[in-house]
Amino acid sequence: MSTLAIDNIGVLITNEQELGDGPLGARRNVSLVLDERDGVLAIEPPGAIADERIDAGGRCVIPGFVDSHTHLVFAGDRAEEFTARMAGAPYRAGGIAATVEATRAADTASLRSLAAARRHAALRAGVTHVEVKSGYALDVDGEARLCALASELTEDATYLGAHLLAPEYRDRPEEYVALVCGEMLQACRASVRWIDVFCEEGAFDVEQSRAVLSAGRDAGLGLRVHANQLRAGDGVRLAVEMGAASADHCTYLTDADLDALSGSDTVATFLPLTDFSTRQPYPNARRAIDAGVSVALATNTNPGSSYSSAMSLALALAVRDMGMTFEEALAAATIGGARALRRTDVGRLGPGARADAILLDAPTPSHLVYRLGMPLVAAAVSGGVVVYRDPDARD
Ligand code: NIG
Repeated sequence: MSTLAIDNIGVLITNEQELGDGPLGARRNVSLVLDERDGVLAIEPPGAIADERIDAGGRCVIPGFVDSHTHLVFAGDRAEEFTARMAGAPYRAGGIAATVEATRAADTASLRSLAAARRHAALRAGVTHVEVKSGYALDVDGEARLCALASELTEDATYLGAHLLAPEYRDRPEEYVALVCGEMLQACRASVRWIDVFCEEGAFDVEQSRAVLSAGRDAGLGLRVHANQLRAGDGVRLAVEMGAASADHCTYLTDADLDALSGSDTVATFLPLTDFSTRQPYPNARRAIDAGVSVALATNTNPGSSYSSAMSLALALAVRDMGMTFEEALAAATIGGARALRRTDVGRLGPGARADAILLDAPTPSHLVYRLGMPLVAAAVSGGVVVYRDPDARD
């Protein structure tokens, strides 16, 4: 077993209230001792024995971000769609079709290397655990290929055959839903932990979405739903009814949605980079939190509605425009993301947790928002191993 000690940590966020002070369980002037196999070993006064050491020099360490909603495996570019939107064009679910065409045409080696580069970019932004969806092939072999590539990046790969009607099935929606629930699901299920559906006007209606989720559940997959992204609808309540781990987007939440979520195990995952990039209003996270809803923040990295893994910008929008305190936002992007993936091993730094942490080039974590858009991740540790070091950060 190989151990790593991060010494001279000014502030360590554990996300475990019993381990430290305040809502995030903060500890001061400690060393964090991590192990490749056994995860978080100890939080001690400086001087612990370890095989390798990093000197934090008074800077802060937080759990790595848990990005519970991404679409990292795709080809093609939709920058023009983004600039047109900024000039006033609306966001439409149908834009997904452009990426489907480019992704179908790409060879597997190219897709693998594009996805790996995006995963590395996310790591540089502090994301140490990630969920990755398929959804840009919409045919049996293509979705199976995307699910397999997603599973090379994470244990939390998601089958999203129900992202949009495949172009060949535009006039035969029920046949496409049957394919998604049948042959396509069978081809994908071995690679993934989750199934997802885009429940929205222009994508799949509530009955079609229920059929997709039921088939996924019968195949042993956990459930996730793209819900209430472009308007209020039935998606959030369907997610709760079906026992989904997460309802994602939640840009439009009615009182009935909040009532359903607050009495459930379904996390409301907000994706503010998408609301930024599609000129949607930001969701009122304060209202959801005050109603007792469990919340997460994720980036939704994808080519159409949010080509960014900048979790610190998601935090900034949450704090400035969604009514969250900084502490709530940081928790939502770490342990909140873990809850949205029904995991207890990430998003925190305490006994039994994986050794996933980030060292920030800052004395306190609030600098992530205070120094808007600055690259503050000095080092990322995943599974007890330093997997990224910013060469320009101070030693
Ligand atoms: O989560 N809403 C559906 N899927 C993605 C957008 C995908 C795209 O536009 O390519 C999302 O925003």
